[in-house]
Amino acid sequence: MKFKKSLTLLLSGALIAGVLAGCSSKSSDSSDGGSGGSGGKVIKIATQSPLSGGSAILGEALKLGAQLKLEEESKKFEKLGYKLQLEPYDDQGDPKKGVSNANVIGADKEIYGIIGHLNSGVTIPSSEVYEKYHVAMVSPAATAVEVTERGLKTVNRIVARDDFQGPAGAEYAVKELGAKTAFIIQDKTAYGQGLADEFKKAIESQGAKVVGYEGITVGEKDFNGVINKAKAQNPDVIYFGGLYAEGGLIIKQAREKGIDVPIMGGDGLDSSGLVDIAGDSVANTYITSVAGDSTKTESGKKFVEDYKAKFNKKAESYSVYGYDSMGVLLKGIEDAIKANGDKLPSKEKVAEAVRAVKDYKGALTEVSFDDKGDNTKAKVFLYKFDKASYPPALQGEVSQ
Ligand code: ALA
Repeated sequence: MKFKKSLTLLLSGALIAGVLAGCSSKSSDSSDGGSGGSGGKVIKIATQSPLSGGSAILGEALKLGAQLKLEEESKKFEKLGYKLQLEPYDDQGDPKKGVSNANVIGADKEIYGIIGHLNSGVTIPSSEVYEKYHVAMVSPAATAVEVTERGLKTVNRIVARDDFQGPAGAEYAVKELGAKTAFIIQDKTAYGQGLADEFKKAIESQGAKVVGYEGITVGEKDFNGVINKAKAQNPDVIYFGGLYAEGGLIIKQAREKGIDVPIMGGDGLDSSGLVDIAGDSVANTYITSVAGDSTKTESGKKFVEDYKAKFNKKAESYSVYGYDSMGVLLKGIEDAIKANGDKLPSKEKVAEAVRAVKDYKGALTEVSFDDKGDNTKAKVFLYKFDKASYPPALQGEVSQ
């Protein structure tokens, strides 16, 4: 792992040198390449993410980013004779809902691709359905190892995996925060538990001791039981594998009990929602994220401005990842159309073309898929919340 300090920190010398690094549930009448009114045959792209429930801030961000890119690419597709159409689905962060929507998506002959999901626990079962119907999926956010380890041809993601993110957090905790003991809490989802377990393995292999490992339930509000257990162990760091709704409350309640050690987590905490919930208690929270800071590149800055102008909302961590995932998917579709003499290709051919995408340059990310559908150019970023404001301060990034 290569840890590169953020420029600001390098210049200020603030850190010692480091080593580390439905909504709709809408269904539509399917018709074989039906007429799109103004502009030729219809190509529908679905999004699936939580548009309601505890992780809706990130789920909506992912959808809006995807929508912006689809609208920007529409003219190009019209020239090719196709009309792009977005079909947003609300998976509610619930695997059952995701699978039921996936069956509707799969049965729709006009849906050629899917952007989503946010949650790995929803992605894993839903993508079994996409595979059955040969619908190419690009996830902007699902990080659990299993997502791409099943050898599915239609499953891709543009973000790093938790067997990269977890160890990056562990190395930072030991080498930068000086942690010798850690107390781990996880939300028992495929993501939260998977990430916590990767962190645990890695921090133990660095010689630190795990002094507690507890599970909580998504949707819970009172974490005093688990926080009392953590307090009794007096750990150097508390690590939480899960999303911002529960993470924000754990941070707030831990600080109310006088726990002042660093609290760490992963990309699931990378949301303005964490600050909304934790308030000032968020200070001294560190996160790894698989999402970079959009404002660090010119194209990222432009994205943030366009997003604000269109939706009157500040971009979240995953907004630009929704945008770039849509870019990758549409690139695959365009390649498949061109390879088919400008005629509509089969869904299998689209899925093959998406997997074949190499050296795609998005607004923030670069994407080259390997044979599993993982992005060989994905990175992990380290952030610190110093105060109740979002985004947090970038500390550095880790390359594969
Ligand atoms: N990376 C998180 C997940 O996979 C959002 O569930």
